[in-house]
Amino acid sequence: MNLKEIQPDVYYCGVNDRVSTLFEGLWPLPNGVSYNSYIVRGPEKTALIDTVHEANTPEFFHALGVSGNASEERVKIDYLIVNHMEPDHSGAIPLLLRAYPDLKIVANRVAIGMIKSFYGISQPEVFLEIKDGDTLSLGEGMELKFLLTPMVHWPETMMTWLEARKTLFTGDAFGTFGALDGGIVDDELDTELYRSEMYRYYSNIVGKYGVPVQRAMAKALPLGAEWVCPTHGPVWHTHLQEAVSLYDRLSRQEWEDGVTIIYGTMYGNTGEAADAIARRLKERGVKTVKVHNASHSTLSEMISDAFRYKGLIVGSPTYNGNLFPPVEALMKSMEVREVKGKIFACFGNYAWAPAATKILNDKGTALGWDNMGSFTVKMAMDSSAYDSAAGVADSVAEALLS
Ligand code: FEO
Repeated sequence: MNLKEIQPDVYYCGVNDRVSTLFEGLWPLPNGVSYNSYIVRGPEKTALIDTVHEANTPEFFHALGVSGNASEERVKIDYLIVNHMEPDHSGAIPLLLRAYPDLKIVANRVAIGMIKSFYGISQPEVFLEIKDGDTLSLGEGMELKFLLTPMVHWPETMMTWLEARKTLFTGDAFGTFGALDGGIVDDELDTELYRSEMYRYYSNIVGKYGVPVQRAMAKALPLGAEWVCPTHGPVWHTHLQEAVSLYDRLSRQEWEDGVTIIYGTMYGNTGEAADAIARRLKERGVKTVKVHNASHSTLSEMISDAFRYKGLIVGSPTYNGNLFPPVEALMKSMEVREVKGKIFACFGNYAWAPAATKILNDKGTALGWDNMGSFTVKMAMDSSAYDSAAGVADSVAEALLS
């Protein structure tokens, strides 16, 4: 048994994943990721809240004392509360049921359907179906309340509230990438790392669901949680307001001052234009300028900065009559996340048939962004292209700083 007490009767039994290189097969994990699972002990019953990725079942089972070592003290579990069914949190359910054949799975209707589809578990006696606002007693003074919060980040997602400890188990909401390096609660950890990983996690994973996140926050935050236990990253307590405020701003699409420049380049010419714009922005007083070469930065990093800052300038060579593929992927990511309210500009490059600038302009218009201008370079930069780069940078800086 390897439980970490967070507060009286509330324990952490999650795991770190520093093996997977990609989350969801897409998003890089340079700092790893944690799959958080929690135990709540009441005077009569004990509940486990969410499980872990199937691949991490061995260490999860060590935490629960069900590793097969007869000398280990086994954690008694009566209920599994399923806040979220994505397999990074539900993958251990089949093995858990084998280890705890009398376990009741407490889940909402949508989650129960997913458990059947993912794992073939459908015996009605296994389930205790709950609805929004239902409660479950673990004994006197320890009651769990369930809040359905669909689309944060799947349709079955819900939160579990433990009034007795002012603790909210939030699923993916308030989660971050980054394995937990020793500590579990925020004040035991270097929160700066998790803060930057929260931008990346939110924009990459939850970014499409800002409106449901707002709805969920409006429902859950009035409860007055003092401890927030997400499925990834630190438990928020000392820095809770910071985490809540960051999620609130991101889900409202309230962007920070600063400009992200993202460009694709084959032979450096579009990159030269990007650098010219970046330098001019700095000269014009823009404090934060982030520049990404789309062939070098990951899509994950680019989405994160494109989400974070109000200014977004995108450049691309014309490639097969279209955008350079990694730039196209970035623009598609903005479209599917329905990113609004950017101060936008763009630039393109071509050798014989210009297309990129028009495509970028059209995409910016379709997203409703404030378009501050564009320019097109034929092959190499010249003095006129430098003037155009300065003009675009001036317009963006003016819009941003006014
Ligand atoms: Fe961490 Fe949506 O799962």
